[in-house]
Amino acid sequence: MAVSLYERVNEEIDIVSLVSEFVKLEKQGKNYMGLCPFHQEKSPSFSVSPDKKIAKCMACGGGGRAVTFYSQIKNIPPSEAVTELAKRFGIETNLFQERKDRNEKYYPLLDEASNFYSFALKNTELGHQMIDHLNTRGLNDELIDHFEIGLAPNQMDALYQLLRSKNYSVSDMIDLGLVNQGKDGSYYDVFRNRIIFPIKNERGFIVGFSGRSIDKNERAKYINSKETVTFKKSETLYHLSDARGHVINQKHVILHEGFFDVIASFKAGFKASVATMGTSLTNEQASLIKRITTHVIIAYDGDNAGLNATLKSIPILRSVGLKISVLLIPNKLDPDDYINKEGINKYQNLIENNLLDSYLFTYELLSKNKDFKKADDITVFKREFLKVIHNADISVINFYENKFLKDFGINLFLSKTPSPIPQKEGFIYHKIVNRAERTIDKVIVNLLLGNVHSKHIINNLDVSMLITKEQKLVYREIADYLELIEYNQINLNHFLENYTKDKTLYNKYITDVDYINNLPIKSIDELNKKLSDINNYKLQLEIEEYKEKLKEINSEDLKNLNLKKLLKKQRQKKKLKN
Ligand code: CTP
Ligand code: MN
Repeated sequence: MAVSLYERVNEEIDIVSLVSEFVKLEKQGKNYMGLCPFHQEKSPSFSVSPDKKIAKCMACGGGGRAVTFYSQIKNIPPSEAVTELAKRFGIETNLFQERKDRNEKYYPLLDEASNFYSFALKNTELGHQMIDHLNTRGLNDELIDHFEIGLAPNQMDALYQLLRSKNYSVSDMIDLGLVNQGKDGSYYDVFRNRIIFPIKNERGFIVGFSGRSIDKNERAKYINSKETVTFKKSETLYHLSDARGHVINQKHVILHEGFFDVIASFKAGFKASVATMGTSLTNEQASLIKRITTHVIIAYDGDNAGLNATLKSIPILRSVGLKISVLLIPNKLDPDDYINKEGINKYQNLIENNLLDSYLFTYELLSKNKDFKKADDITVFKREFLKVIHNADISVINFYENKFLKDFGINLFLSKTPSPIPQKEGFIYHKIVNRAERTIDKVIVNLLLGNVHSKHIINNLDVSMLITKEQKLVYREIADYLELIEYNQINLNHFLENYTKDKTLYNKYITDVDYINNLPIKSIDELNKKLSDINNYKLQLEIEEYKEKLKEINSEDLKNLNLKKLLKKQRQKKKLKN
């Protein structure tokens, strides 16, 4: 287990793609060849072997494994190369160094519990029955060992007794969700008479368990560890730490719903498989994936629930910048059932030949069973489809606009639709749109239109601080546009000609050349200061208005004031000042 970080970086990094950043490579048999970056030459002697994970010049001897190669080519010490590579390729650097894991003290207990469950599976009568059951589901000994599957015996306190005899603290057992205390004061095991799946965090430590009952009279098919200091289901992906190396090598991860799906996929040779464990995908889980790969294949159950869960997870995966493919499992089966019914070959075939891209998947799912003669159906389709497609490349958006026109004879105007302007609750502002404020409007718009850091402004200017409707519209349109072109700066001509619905809206700002020229923002710091001034200024206005209203004590007006929110903002502002 104690592999050094050097070893892991050398092992897990894709040497071909790393070297390709510096050397133009050509495939020759199993290896790749290119001109050596370490000496002058006319015919290629630099050889990269993906199998051996070595990149070395046969003439001058330069290069070596990933860390050596990188440290030589960047002219940095190996210790620096290793951390830089680990960071870039999402390999946890703090595994054996730096950050102290606050949960470290709990891991031995959780490990001991897992050992106990494994032991019970292999050494009890009930365990043998469970193994038979697992065998009929296609799990052989090797799989059972790899996934460290165990058994919680059908006894009140077998685990408790074992842990107690080893002097583990009872309160830790309780905090970790393994043991409860009954009304009579006695302690009992949470998991009983169940097949046990240990669940590890991304560092490979066991953090919780899930138990599958095979008793038909038992109501709960699965029970999981409660949320504990170590186990946060929404921040965990089943099998991630064991899949990591495969994910990096394969350049994708396969995302399932359940334990048995991961195991079946693994059995079919797709070892880069993980599961959300049934709950809907979270941002945290998407980020975990993003740290180790750029491509995710969603392989949820083929039933309606699975299709809808797929639809919901697409924008979440997209928002962290992942490329998404969808695997549709036929006949409403889940991957595990499909593999057991149809066989490994057919499953491999599905993954190799039948992946849908996320846009087509969404398009087809959303247009199924809809009647586009009905306005409502058009609206719903458009709204839901935009959620997935709004930040795709403009050509992709155009493609689907045309496809819809061809399929259903309707123009959706997908590429011209800004997302809805969020309505501000509470305050009514109309009174205070004075001269000073119009100036602020212009400043903001001109910052957005003219500054190289438009995206930064969007990210740092609180939209709720914007006052006029017009200003919000401008903000929203520019934000959507920037997202669409996936670029930080606005291309003004392109924006005006192809994107905005209302060119005239911008004229008054654009003709005001002075504004643009008088706002030379030189650094991000300067820009941040400007933004914070604007935010504070708006807040000041809000507070002024609030005071005005208090003077009048007009209950009609007060009704609309969100005092709690305002007070919170005031406190925040005070903090900022101090
Ligand atoms: N799950 C859970 N609690 C439940 C039901 C499900 O935590 N009460 C999680 C489990 O991780 C499960 C996944 O959601 O693996 C998917 O649920 P489901 O499709 O119902 O189960 P399967 O994995 O298909 O399990 P089996 O094949 O044994 O029915
Ligand atoms: Mn299943």
